[in-house]
Amino acid sequence: MLKNFWYAVELSHEVGSEPKLLKLLGKEYVLYRHQGQVIALDNQCAHRGASLAMGWTENDCLRCPYHGWRYEADGRCSHIPADSPETPIPKRARVQSYPIQERYGLVWMFVGDLDLPADRRPPIPEFPQFESPERPPAFSRYTFNAHFTRTMENGIDAAHALFVHKGAIGTSKAPQDTEIEEYDVEMGEYEMSASLEIKVNRLNGIMRFVMQQDDPDARKGYRFALPNITYSSVQFGRFKLESILAHIPVDDNTTIVKSVNIRNFLNHTPILNIWLDRNTAQVGNNILKEDDVVVKTQSPRYAPFNEMGRELLVASDATLIAYRKLLKKYADQPIESEKPSEKPQVMV
Ligand code: FES
Ligand SMILES: [Fe+2]
Repeated sequence: MLKNFWYAVELSHEVGSEPKLLKLLGKEYVLYRHQGQVIALDNQCAHRGASLAMGWTENDCLRCPYHGWRYEADGRCSHIPADSPETPIPKRARVQSYPIQERYGLVWMFVGDLDLPADRRPPIPEFPQFESPERPPAFSRYTFNAHFTRTMENGIDAAHALFVHKGAIGTSKAPQDTEIEEYDVEMGEYEMSASLEIKVNRLNGIMRFVMQQDDPDARKGYRFALPNITYSSVQFGRFKLESILAHIPVDDNTTIVKSVNIRNFLNHTPILNIWLDRNTAQVGNNILKEDDVVVKTQSPRYAPFNEMGRELLVASDATLIAYRKLLKKYADQPIESEKPSEKPQVMV
């Protein structure tokens, strides 16, 4: 749907010398690392379609588990064990290789027109504070039963938090009486950011430990960047917790969210660090679990960006409106049409 973008596809530390299967947008790839470099190839062997992720690496090469064809890092087959050495290797004996970069603890793969010159590819979004954080980040993962455009929207949706997460973040008023202040949305070519005040009087997890009480200056920052990144920051006075969330679109109904989390406080106490990292991951996963319950019920399954009238976005949905505008601009194919009978009922 969104082609010619760098997708964040994996956490860097989860790619080692062993081949690893990557499912992305309904297609399979294999990732492995050699001398620090991540290599990405199509997963289906050119010979008879076995999964290369089931094979093994030999330096920067990958050996198919079925008949042992050996692939170089550029995807070219360089050895067919059952043929004599004099037999030429056919030109078609190759699999596609993909450009890879690593930044912020994430592996980014370029998906789309591989003939597009590198300088015409949209950039990887900038997160300078994640380039060299005070200490290594904490990581977490959660699998949604939903399309990634819906999980992306959930990641930048300010209005749902007090309803879906009232157990986790609390509120000084009943959720139905809590307005969101008007907020400005800053749009870039491929991304958006917004910051708004949050009202809390009860906190769980890491923030409860740090703050103990409400902070009148508490703010939540939202950002998304095409194709699959949302960013969130929570700031209480000088304490700040930031996360990059990679929404890895496995297929139409599955999205794995992997996050990289940093904080600017309590970074220098080793035992506390481990506890806080675990706690951050646990609280983050509990929050995503609460989101999943609702997000997987949404119809249509995709964010209907090319049918603006299909849903009713209002002033407090400014971040979502920005997201849909960018989807409309860059998505290369329309959303699949839902049958009329599946349209939501209008309540009067
Ligand atoms: S299927 Fe891979 S070598 Fe035959
Ligand atoms: Fe949420």
